[in-house]
Parts: sequence; structure tokens; C-alpha cells
Amino acid sequence: MNFSQNSSDSTSSLSGKKIAVIGVGKIGGTLVSSLLKNKVIPPSHLFGSTRHSINHEKISSQLGIKLFTHNSEMAKLADIVILAVKPQNMKQALSEIKNSITTDQMIVTLAAATTTRFVEEILPDKIPVIRAMPNTPCLVNEGMTVLCPGKSASLHHLKMAKQIFSSVGRVEVLDNEDLMDAVTALSGSGPGYIYIMIESLAEGGVKAGLPRDLATTLAAQSMLGASKMVLETGEHPAKLKDSVTTPAGVTMDGIMELEDGGIRVTLIKAIAKATEKAKEISQ
Ligand SMILES: NC(=O)c1ccc[n+]([C@@H]2O[C@H](COP(=O)([O-])OP(=O)(O)OC[C@H]3O[C@@H](n4cnc5c(N)ncnc54)[C@H](OP(=O)(O)O)[C@@H]3O)[C@@H](O)[C@H]2O)c1
Repeated sequence: MNFSQNSSDSTSSLSGKKIAVIGVGKIGGTLVSSLLKNKVIPPSHLFGSTRHSINHEKISSQLGIKLFTHNSEMAKLADIVILAVKPQNMKQALSEIKNSITTDQMIVTLAAATTTRFVEEILPDKIPVIRAMPNTPCLVNEGMTVLCPGKSASLHHLKMAKQIFSSVGRVEVLDNEDLMDAVTALSGSGPGYIYIMIESLAEGGVKAGLPRDLATTLAAQSMLGASKMVLETGEHPAKLKDSVTTPAGVTMDGIMELEDGGIRVTLIKAIAKATEKAKEISQ
């Protein structure tokens, strides 16, 4: 089945649906805030939980949703259950909900290095599961999420998952789950690498005499603008790079320093190493 097709029409399949987020930490909390801010789901239809209830009052008032102490009780109320806990807490969270889930519901798992098969094996038979790898820029509606359907997920389930994540950024669909570790390494962890690049470019600006705030804005906006050029023109990045490289000009001198420092191979190796780590965790 080609999941990338047929699932992109704009009719809302989320209307009236209730969503429970198990683990409203960094990414779960980001998703809840964005879904509310973009009015995708009303606060009365969104619930959350954390492992420790000590901060529930504070988190509940920050996010504006009801928090539950028992995952099993919360899961029964939801049409869609999103699991946003660390990989090492997945088994526990799944065992807490396994007796509350039916085939009328859908599970979305965000945990790195955790396969749909792992989730399906703990839950009752034929529960629709979709694995999603989002990233934190969901908070500013510039997230990148890759979805991968499990064996019992239909186009309808994929459409609902697409609607959740396309409300907070761009969505792609992969049929081959083996590639999800590379996705985790590239776009899931990607913002972490980009922040270092922005910070370093800004330091270069500071070294050359620019005030730090201005240098950070120049670096971040240049990164944003260049990214938009790649996504919106569809041009190869090398061609866009050539178009700003005047013969004997300033950019060429900067590029020579980047190449001398091995920027390309460093970035390639970073993704390769992070992919290896994701594979190691999943085993
Ligand atoms: N952060 C990212 O950019 C990102 C991007 C893509 C995917 N992910 C994936 O998302 C997952 C969460 O990452 P994170 O960075 O958001 O971690 P996090 O900030 O530590 O949040 C994890 C949350 O899960 C809660 N939790 C743990 N066990 C639970 C249980 N049995 N029932 C209810 N809640 C439970 C924790 O509660 P307590 O605080 O009470 O322990 C915490 O609120 C990970 O699997 C990660 O691979 C993260």
C-alpha cells in the first residue's frame, strides 16, 4: 500500500476526536501546546499524563489541559493515544494501557528506536499503531515529522496522524521502518546540530566585531532563508551555493575555510554515528 498517496486530502478526520498524550515532557508538551495554539483540538479533548504527579498542577495550568494520574483511565477516554515517553519507559507505559485499548483507537508512538512491532506485541491484536518522529520546532509550526505505519494501521489512521503533525509543520511518510533510525539521527536530532551551527556562525560574527544579539539574528535568519530557498525552489543545494559564490569573492574564502575544517565529512559522520546509536538502542 502506498501511504504517501490518498492520505493528503484536507477533510478533517480529527473532528470530535479525543487525544491522550502519555508523557507531556519536552516533545509531548510541545505537541500539546502547538495543537492548542493552532486550534486543531479543543482543550476539553486533549489530556495528558506524566510518571510523577508532583508537578501536575503546575503542568496542567501551563498547558491548559487536564492531567491524569492513571494512564489506563485516561487511555479509555481517548480516540488517539500518543506515547511520548523515553524508549526505556515504553514497556511500562504500554503495560499500563494494554487492557484499556481497543481496535477502535489508534496509538501514535514518538519514542526513538522503538519499533511498531515492539508496541504491537505488548498491546492486544490488531491495534492500529503509527510510529512518528517529530522534532521540537513543532513549537513554532516548523516541525519535521516522519510517519511510518504499523501492520494494522489503515490509510484512515495515517490521515489522522498526518493531520495532527501537519498542523505543526511538514510531514513525510515512510513505508520502510528500517529507515526510521536514520530519520531520528537527521531530523529528530537535527535541531541540536543546527543550534551549534548558528551559535558558531554568530561567534564568528562576534570575532569580526558584531554585537552578539545581532550576530545571532544574522546567523539564524540566514539559516532559515537558505533552508526556505532549498525547500521552496526545489533546486539542488550545490546550485544555490554556486549562485552566491562570486569568482574571487568573499563567500569563496569562507567556503575554503569550511572545507579545510572538514565540515562536510564531519556532518556526514555525525548523522552516520547518530544512526548507529539509534540502531544500538533499538536492539
Ligand atoms: N525531545 C525531542 O526533540 C524528541 C524528538 C522526537 C522524538 N522524541 C522522543 O520522544 C520521547 C520523549 O522525549 P522527551 O525529550 O520529550 O523526554 P522528556 O522531556 O523526559 O519527557 C518524557 C515524559 O514522559 C513521562 N513518562 C515517563 N514514563 C511515563 C509513564 N509510565 N506514564 C506517563 N508519563 C511517563 C515523563 O514523566 P516524569 O517527568 O514524571 O518522569 C516525562 O513527562 C522519547 O522517546 C524521544 O525519543 C523526542
